[in-house]
Amino acid sequence: MQVHKYDVIVVGAGGSGLMSALYAKKNALGNVAVISKLYPTRSHTGAAQGGVGAALGNVDEDHWEWHMFDTIKGGDYLTDQDAAEIFAKDVIEAVLELEHMGLPFSRLPNGKIAQRRFGGHTREFGKAPVHRACYAADRTGHMILQTLYQQSIKEGVTFYNEYVVLDLILEDEPDGKVCKGVVAYELATGEMHTFHAKSVVLASGGNGRIFKVTSNAHALTGDLTSIAYRRGIPLEDMEFYQFHPTGLYKLGVLLTEGVRGEGGILRNSSGERFMERYAPTIKDLAPRDIVSRSMYFEIREGRGCGPNKDYIHLDVTHIDPKILEERLPDIMDFSRTYLRVEPTKEPVPIQPTAHYTMGGIPTTLDGEVIYGTTNGEKVRGLFAAGEVACVSLHGANRLGTNSLGDLIVFGRRAGVAAAKFANANELEPLPTDADQRALDLVARTRNATGKESVAKIRSEMQQTMQDNASVFRTEETLSTQVEILRGLNERYKNIGISDRGEKYNTELLEAIELGFLLDNAEALVHSALNRRESRGAHAREDHTDRDDTKFLKHTMCYQLEPGKTNIKWKDVVLGKYEPKPRTY
Ligand code: FUM
Repeated sequence: MQVHKYDVIVVGAGGSGLMSALYAKKNALGNVAVISKLYPTRSHTGAAQGGVGAALGNVDEDHWEWHMFDTIKGGDYLTDQDAAEIFAKDVIEAVLELEHMGLPFSRLPNGKIAQRRFGGHTREFGKAPVHRACYAADRTGHMILQTLYQQSIKEGVTFYNEYVVLDLILEDEPDGKVCKGVVAYELATGEMHTFHAKSVVLASGGNGRIFKVTSNAHALTGDLTSIAYRRGIPLEDMEFYQFHPTGLYKLGVLLTEGVRGEGGILRNSSGERFMERYAPTIKDLAPRDIVSRSMYFEIREGRGCGPNKDYIHLDVTHIDPKILEERLPDIMDFSRTYLRVEPTKEPVPIQPTAHYTMGGIPTTLDGEVIYGTTNGEKVRGLFAAGEVACVSLHGANRLGTNSLGDLIVFGRRAGVAAAKFANANELEPLPTDADQRALDLVARTRNATGKESVAKIRSEMQQTMQDNASVFRTEETLSTQVEILRGLNERYKNIGISDRGEKYNTELLEAIELGFLLDNAEALVHSALNRRESRGAHAREDHTDRDDTKFLKHTMCYQLEPGKTNIKWKDVVLGKYEPKPRTY
């Protein structure tokens, strides 16, 4: 076994991982390393397009309080208001910091950072859309990733690329749980590595591959949510899964909400701008949960487009082509390349696409992972940030652009807190069998000779999750899905793989990832079944109203064994914005 020793280990090299690593390195007395399943600049933050929201007020008047309010209302009041306040204040300075690091933002004629409108971001507490999304054309995430990677290299962070974390070294001690590092599999060689660390930051992104139509890259398989869940850490608010309204029809490839921010319009088969009926004030720029549901209402009522009436049109034909090419070049290319549609002349076929998990590993405001139902029960030495985490900023529905803001604000806080923890503590002794679970997992999977196909189980999971647990849910569809997942878990025990090699064994990796995905799907469906109300992205057709009396609280889903969970609740941090009916 190869053992590496670090003060701080960060798992994941997307925006939150790099921001954590950078700030851990700036603050830690010792060394910092990032372990990434991918080459860092291939991380999924690179696919984030339209912008990062911050109340700079460069185009029109804006205030951090308005951003805070929009975030809480957008989250259907499940957002923790302390998280929203820190976020809306700190993201302003964090964006300016990115600018000073050299991020090439698009510019206004006066030289200030360009800002565009985005869904759910408003002036004066809901009066009209505001220009709040700071953008670099439609490549904002890509630019953030490149900038933070350069800075991390400059700062002296070490990178272990194409290493797959397979376990947390987590022990139960008399005074609670403690994390002592991680175990990772090196894809190029098939060797196992133990990373012994004083603190560990989890920043490995989401789990969108549980659904069939998704904007998420192949690698987004919820690895660390699953590993934490298997290790007795609950997953918070997993039922709240976001479907982004504008994915390319059938493919799910993202077309940024920035298209509507620049004036794009959603139309049904008769060319009607139907969002005027569902959100009369901000129309196409309503939050994503509302827009995605409205699109499906149109489709269900026979007003979908195309021969099967199963998609919606995104229309930009009225916008000056020069503006489209300058501000949305990738979007134009995606439409032309993947659908052979010329957006300047014809509307683009789109449908909602699985995009973002609001839930995840529960944390305090400083990214400390908690394992109970209050912030008092912390896993010593373990932190999380970004999409893998749930600091309860996004509540039941995230606003567009708040994911990039979350990465930089809470990634930085987690990095600083992890460094402080490392500075104040010694390396704890490793258990003698630190890598045993990971070794067993790889050996069991590499030698699997069963009859079941990984690809088949995965595609059945993705199709049935799409059918039973996506934008609309009922007791019946969710109960059906619980049973389907139980069956798939049984079949997963009997998989077979044919590649027994050591080097770049991607068949082995996909088989292990399928186990992670099944855990993520289970947590989502069990949590959704338990929440008998509709709130944000969780739309129960059998419980159509929000029920603040019973359900104004966070779900904490514990795995007892695969297929069996225990659901507990955690209080929502309320504040000056009282829960109200949500209209736009
Ligand atoms: O539409 C988009 O550009 C996506 C942004 C986000 O998810 O925040």
